[in-house]
Amino acid sequence: MFKGLFQRPVRSMPSAVTLKTDGLDMTNIPKHVAIIMDGNGRWAKAQGKARTYGHKAGAETLKTIVRAADTLGIKAITAYAFSTENWKRPVTEVHFIMELLSRYLTSEIEDFKANNVQVRFMGSREGLPAIVNEKMDHAIDETKNDTGIILNLAINYGGQAEILHAVRSIAQQVANGTLNVEDIDAPVFENNLYSKGLPSPDLMIRTGGDLRVSNFLLWQIAYSEIWTTPVYWPDFSPDMLIEAIKVYQSRERRFGGLVQK
Ligand code: IPE
Ligand code: IPE
Ligand code: MG
Repeated sequence: MFKGLFQRPVRSMPSAVTLKTDGLDMTNIPKHVAIIMDGNGRWAKAQGKARTYGHKAGAETLKTIVRAADTLGIKAITAYAFSTENWKRPVTEVHFIMELLSRYLTSEIEDFKANNVQVRFMGSREGLPAIVNEKMDHAIDETKNDTGIILNLAINYGGQAEILHAVRSIAQQVANGTLNVEDIDAPVFENNLYSKGLPSPDLMIRTGGDLRVSNFLLWQIAYSEIWTTPVYWPDFSPDMLIEAIKVYQSRERRFGGLVQK
C-alpha cells in the first residue's frame, strides 16, 4: 500500500551539509526515522537557564537534523514536538511552545520550500491555538508539492489518542454501512491513523536518556529498531544521527521470521 511514495528521485539540497559518512552503508539508509526529541529542559537547566531556552535551541537542532537526514537519503522524519500529555506542564511553558511552533512554521517556510521539504503533521488539531492551526494548514499547503524529505511533526500527538481516533472512525464507517466488520484488517486500520500514507519507521531515536516510548507511535513502531542516547536533544548532531544509522545497519531485522544464512 505504500508503493510509490519513496520512489521519487533523490534531490540534493542546495547547500547540503558536509557529513562524515565513512563506514556508512549508503545502500541501507533507513527510509523513515522517528525521533523523540527529549531533554530540552534539562539541557537548559544544566546551563542555569529557563526551560524555554532549551525548547528554542531544540527547534534549531531539528532544522540541522532535517538537512542532514535529507543529505543522507532519509525520506521521512517524524519528530515528536508536543504530546497529548505535555498539556500537563505549566501554562507558561505550554504557551511558549505553542508560540515557538507558530514562529517556527512562519520563519522556516521559505527554507522548507527552497529545500524541497514537504511538511506534514500528526496529532489532534482540537485544543491547539487557532494561530497554530492556521500556520499548520499554511505549511501543508505551501509545501504539498515538494518532493524531497517529508518532515512529519507530531503535535498534540499521543499514540493512544491516535488509536482511539482510528477506532471511532472505523466504527463510524461500519455504522454508516460503508465498511464491513470482516474487512477490518491492518491496512484498513493504518488508513485511519494520522500516519496514513507513511510507512512504519525503520528506526526510532530517543535523546535525553530515558528508555521509554512516552506514547509515541504505539502502532507504527511494532518492528522499528530503537536507538537511544543520553545526549539532550539540543546537543544532538548530524554525527550522532550517523552513529544511530550505523548501529541500525548492524542490526538484523527479522520481523518475527528467520534470516537465511
Ligand atoms: C522535549 O524536551 C520537548 C517537549 C516535550 C516539548 P523536554 O521539555 O521534555 O525536556 P526534559 O525532558 O524535561 O529535559
Ligand atoms: C516525550 O517527552 C514528548 C516529546 C518529546 C514531545 P516527554 O518529556 O513528554 O516524556 P516523559 O514525560 O519523559 O515520558
Ligand atoms: Mg522530557
